[in-house]
Amino acid sequence: MAKTTKTARSAHQTWGGRFSAGPAELMLTFSESVSFDRRLAPFDIAGSKAHSAMLAHVGIITAKERDAIHAGLDAILAEINAGKFTWDVKLEDVHMNIEQALTKRVPAAAKLHTARSRNDQVATDMRLYLKHACADLSARIAAAQRAILAAAAEHADVLIPGYTHLQRAQPVYLGHHLFAWLEMLQRDRVRLAETAAHANWCPLGSGAIAGTTLPIDREFSAQKLGFVDAKGRPQVTQNSMDTVADRDFFIEFAHACALFGVHISRIAEDLILWTSAEFKFVELPDAFCTGSSLMPQKKNPDSCELLRGKSARLQGNLHTLLTLAKGLPLTYNRDLQEDKPPLFDSHDQAAICADVLAGTFTGLKMNRDKCAAAVADPALLATDLADYLVERGVPFREAHHAVGAVVRAAENLGVALNEIPYAEIQKIHPAYAKDWTQVFDLKRAMQKRAGTGMPGPKQIKAQFTRWKKLLSQTNQSLKRGRAETRK
Ligand code: ARG
Repeated sequence: MAKTTKTARSAHQTWGGRFSAGPAELMLTFSESVSFDRRLAPFDIAGSKAHSAMLAHVGIITAKERDAIHAGLDAILAEINAGKFTWDVKLEDVHMNIEQALTKRVPAAAKLHTARSRNDQVATDMRLYLKHACADLSARIAAAQRAILAAAAEHADVLIPGYTHLQRAQPVYLGHHLFAWLEMLQRDRVRLAETAAHANWCPLGSGAIAGTTLPIDREFSAQKLGFVDAKGRPQVTQNSMDTVADRDFFIEFAHACALFGVHISRIAEDLILWTSAEFKFVELPDAFCTGSSLMPQKKNPDSCELLRGKSARLQGNLHTLLTLAKGLPLTYNRDLQEDKPPLFDSHDQAAICADVLAGTFTGLKMNRDKCAAAVADPALLATDLADYLVERGVPFREAHHAVGAVVRAAENLGVALNEIPYAEIQKIHPAYAKDWTQVFDLKRAMQKRAGTGMPGPKQIKAQFTRWKKLLSQTNQSLKRGRAETRK
């Protein structure tokens, strides 16, 4: 049988009035969360400072008591930051550890938890954490975007084949391919900004489930903690039951991270293909590759493979959170304590992935000859040839057919598309004029792709300017960035 101990006395003290014995040691080990939620300490302390300031503001505690609480909390935070604070798993979680430490130093600490429950406290801590995590991750993704933009600037004039079905399709400037990645990552940042906005409502005052009978000022606490709208007006949650049960913003964050994972895994996969001997378009920096323990010639794209692999973990965390919340009765249930490990892991893993992505692009070398050889096949401009016929009044379906016949003829004759004798070409369709081979002038072909979103040189230049501007903006202006992206 599990041993019941007196050891839990301090945890017991916070809620033990109706208990005759403390929890079993096994139960303590099973239920503690301080081993992982201690990273919420700065947010927990900020929340407690705001709450005690509010209690003083409405006259529930004195200004002297508030100041003593604040000084005590500041000292505790300094100890935590210096690694000198002693965490005790017997005190269950970060909230009780800090409150107990404060109680030992400041008599007024006994009043701190007035009109507050750990349920609205943990919701507050997590919302504050999430706002920080969104900004942190977005800044790291922006750094990766800047590294990609720098690579685009360096290799702006390189042409490569664009692929569909992993078959060479049409020529594009490398910049166009890289800008596609920037779009994906920008959407991730917009999603993070939206997640932060959803988290930006203050739970304090919701209590355990049904608020409090005491005359508190929720707006005051919200204001103090920065839960404010664009005009600086406080934002407080509107239903106490929903507030302590709601974990949507966790799921949204894990979702943003999972989708970021999908994006980086696709980027990584392109790079892995491009580094293979079969493509050889790029060489990754040595610093982000490893060798083989057996085969001396090997240089493996491990950073990219791990980026691809980590995306599985990010998806798993999202799944864990969705499953955790599913079917829970209102309101708070202890199950919800399990929300933190996957959430923290998503933040940590997505953050390091963004850093590694940036590192991988810094020092990336393009193999210009290989790219030029791959893009040289005139067949990549077969669609342009159909457009040529369309410009001469041929309906597109007929033009498509007439170009297909040219491709077949080239195969039969064993020559490149543009090397078929004109006499043969004329037999295929009378709309082919003598100048038909001008279609295969790659530079001219690229210039004709002039519309917005296309890979022509004018557009590449315009997009370069746009990205330079977008990436010099702060997170706050991301909403506008999205509007512009979608335009
Ligand atoms: N450690 C808990 C959690 O993370 C804090 C909230 C505890 N609330 C409670 N009613 N036991 O969920």
